[in-house]
Amino acid sequence: MTRLWDRGEPLDDAVLRYTAGDDPSLDERLVPYDLRATEAHAAMLHAGGFLTAEQHSALQAAIRELLGSHARGDWHIQPEEEDCHTAIENRLTLLAGDAGRAVHLGRSRNDQVLAALRPWLKDRLDELASAADRVASALDGLAGIHGHLTIPGYTHLQRAMPSTVSLWAGAFAAEARDDAEGLRIARRRADRNPLGSAAGYGVPVLGLDREMTTRALGFASTQEPVTAVQLSRGKAEASALFEASLLALDLGRLAADICLFASAEFGFVRLPASITTGSSMLPQKRNPDVFEIARGRTAEAHAALHEVLGVTAKMTSGYHRDLQLLKRPLFRGLDGVLDTAQILAQVLPQVDFDPGRLAAAMDPSMDMAARAYRLVRDAGIPFRDAYQRVRDDPDAGK
Ligand code: ARG
Repeated sequence: MTRLWDRGEPLDDAVLRYTAGDDPSLDERLVPYDLRATEAHAAMLHAGGFLTAEQHSALQAAIRELLGSHARGDWHIQPEEEDCHTAIENRLTLLAGDAGRAVHLGRSRNDQVLAALRPWLKDRLDELASAADRVASALDGLAGIHGHLTIPGYTHLQRAMPSTVSLWAGAFAAEARDDAEGLRIARRRADRNPLGSAAGYGVPVLGLDREMTTRALGFASTQEPVTAVQLSRGKAEASALFEASLLALDLGRLAADICLFASAEFGFVRLPASITTGSSMLPQKRNPDVFEIARGRTAEAHAALHEVLGVTAKMTSGYHRDLQLLKRPLFRGLDGVLDTAQILAQVLPQVDFDPGRLAAAMDPSMDMAARAYRLVRDAGIPFRDAYQRVRDDPDAGK
């Protein structure tokens, strides 16, 4: 396997391993996306007269073959190949001969990585948004079954006013849907074609048709000027992780409520054995671990956002190898939130509310505000007077 930039000089293996990092495994998920970007680039080169019809069809066949064999798990990026771009070019050359060596014309791995990463990110954001919508639907389902039950509304974790299961679930459902919308809007920064920016300063001499790859890859626009491409790397990632962090935050808070409600002291919800886990020491325990992990994993998304911002902060413009370090937190952060949304959508329908425990928690003092409002409405007195009368007289406003 050859490295694309090899000049025959001796290389320090430890340095290569260190700089490649875990790209060979991380880039596995970019392989199909890089192949599709390569296909679009090849079609553009052919239209521009830089690839013969034979070379173009040889490449098309090789790309199809590699998409299939990679999906079947027949090959993986080798550690010495550094990244998916090298692995693909090596295999295209094996399958399509010189055409494989010709298709890098007018590209650099600097724009190539973004041509793969951005469509991946758009897909992932759609996937996450749908998962958030499924959590919202699961909450709608809970509201449909148990929504009529009253539940204390808490402020400062003290009983404040009567609420309902419908209002409780509805809040989380509305926020999950709002998070889904935020995730879909975050596609915007990933929706620009980087191809044609090459190493970061464009492609001289050839007059490549950037609009053609923009259309072929379904980007909303061509990113201009070419120097903005590398400068913007990390912003689509940060924006996606920020929106994902907000979803993680809501899911974690939902999980925290359920942990509290499932305690013996509250007892508002019952969790079936199938979604709880046991204790190695205390035979009587059934623990809400799935909700605790969902709560704890909020930190993962937030840390990923922090890491992404930290990598790019204070970096001068143009490509730098540090930018490669954006991929790991991006993948880890988004994967984590997706996992959490998926498991919550699955277990939420199994949360059962205990009408008896809920009714027992409905302390009558929570009606004080309603009683005061009734006095204001019916007796026409100022709110502050009604407040005092209700406080001092247990029958006022009844
Ligand atoms: N793996 C690299 C990245 O993600 C690809 C670009 C490498 N470019 C370079 N000039 N070494 O950034």
